[in-house]
Amino acid sequence: MGNERNEMRVYRLMSPSLDGLQMVKEDLPEVAPYEVLVKLHAASINYKDTFYIAGERRIPLSRPTIPLSDGAGEVVAVGSGVDRFVPGDRVAGILAQDWLYGAIPAKAYHSITSLGQGIDGVLAEYRIFNQEGLVRLPKNLSYEEGATLPTAAVTAWNAVKDVRSSQTVLILGTGGVALFALQFAKALGATTIITSSSDAKLARAVEAGADHAINYRSHPEWHKEVRRLTEDIGVDHVVETVGSDTLEQSILAARIEGMVHLVGIVPPIGRIDPVPVIFGAVTVRGVRVGSRQLFEEMNAFMERKNIHPILGRRFAFEDAKSAFVHQLNGPDFGKIIVNIDNEYGS
Ligand SMILES: NC(=O)c1ccc[n+]([C@@H]2O[C@H](COP(=O)([O-])OP(=O)(O)OC[C@H]3O[C@@H](n4cnc5c(N)ncnc54)[C@H](OP(=O)(O)O)[C@@H]3O)[C@@H](O)[C@H]2O)c1
Repeated sequence: MGNERNEMRVYRLMSPSLDGLQMVKEDLPEVAPYEVLVKLHAASINYKDTFYIAGERRIPLSRPTIPLSDGAGEVVAVGSGVDRFVPGDRVAGILAQDWLYGAIPAKAYHSITSLGQGIDGVLAEYRIFNQEGLVRLPKNLSYEEGATLPTAAVTAWNAVKDVRSSQTVLILGTGGVALFALQFAKALGATTIITSSSDAKLARAVEAGADHAINYRSHPEWHKEVRRLTEDIGVDHVVETVGSDTLEQSILAARIEGMVHLVGIVPPIGRIDPVPVIFGAVTVRGVRVGSRQLFEEMNAFMERKNIHPILGRRFAFEDAKSAFVHQLNGPDFGKIIVNIDNEYGS
């Protein structure tokens, strides 16, 4: 198990800033009876990971924390009581380590048990997990692909999992959650409409299966385009990945008794006019990532439908800071990956 030097390289956010992100060497942890040691191969970045390093969104951390929640790797050692995994299993950690099924538990609600937030994350060569905090990767995915799942994919699955094939789904933007929502909604047989600030990204979204594409910059009143495309009926579902800036238009784009799955929390936090919600009998449903059970359900679906995450830029472990900068500058198309170099010391 592990490596000969019994040490590993990890990144810790020593202070909430890009300069505070430092690579340090630490002892390789020992496994306790119900724990699993995972050799991490890849991690991915989400919008929320910038909350700890960027300007007005900056959140203080109570201690130097290993960032990033989303990663995938291989089980290299298991404790004496472990019965869910064996060495060699390919796994990913669940975002909120105590959210196994049902509604979100109180600690997970406050992100106290969330990787890279309340507890150490995955930007490290190795990490110990309680065996309950892991899922097996879908068999059709690489480690890089598996590393994109815990936040963006599970959130998207939570939003669209009940979509039916006769339905129409509007997806806002081409970010991480949005692209998974597009792939899942297509695989469920729905008609999809996607928006973006960029015609180039819209072209790629159409290649990825979007039926209709709207540039929200050239169509600032994009809900009217959505209504035009749906013969003024509106869509059955909106995957709302932005928040108060777009919520009113999302509600106006929804059909009578349609659903708006509210995922995004991009500032500013504002107020919305409640009248179209009432008149259209629209349901605005808050979506919080998802439980381990949802994650496992999604993995089975991805395997069955052979869905592969859309990947964007890759960065080496030594260059992880650039991955954060890339996310901060507004991501391109596809999930940003940090490849974790496991050669060191092994
Ligand atoms: N509720 C939850 O549990 C949960 C889980 C995951 C993420 N989130 C939240 O969901 C949001 C998206 O996360 P992410 O990781 O997918 O972000 P991301 O990969 O950084 O993507 C952000 C995308 O938002 C799009 N966007 C920005 N303004 C827009 C607008 N006015 N209309 C339409 N699209 C717009 C942009 O798309 P274009 O470049 O195509 O214009 C941008 O690429 C964030 O607020 C994040 O915190 C919430």
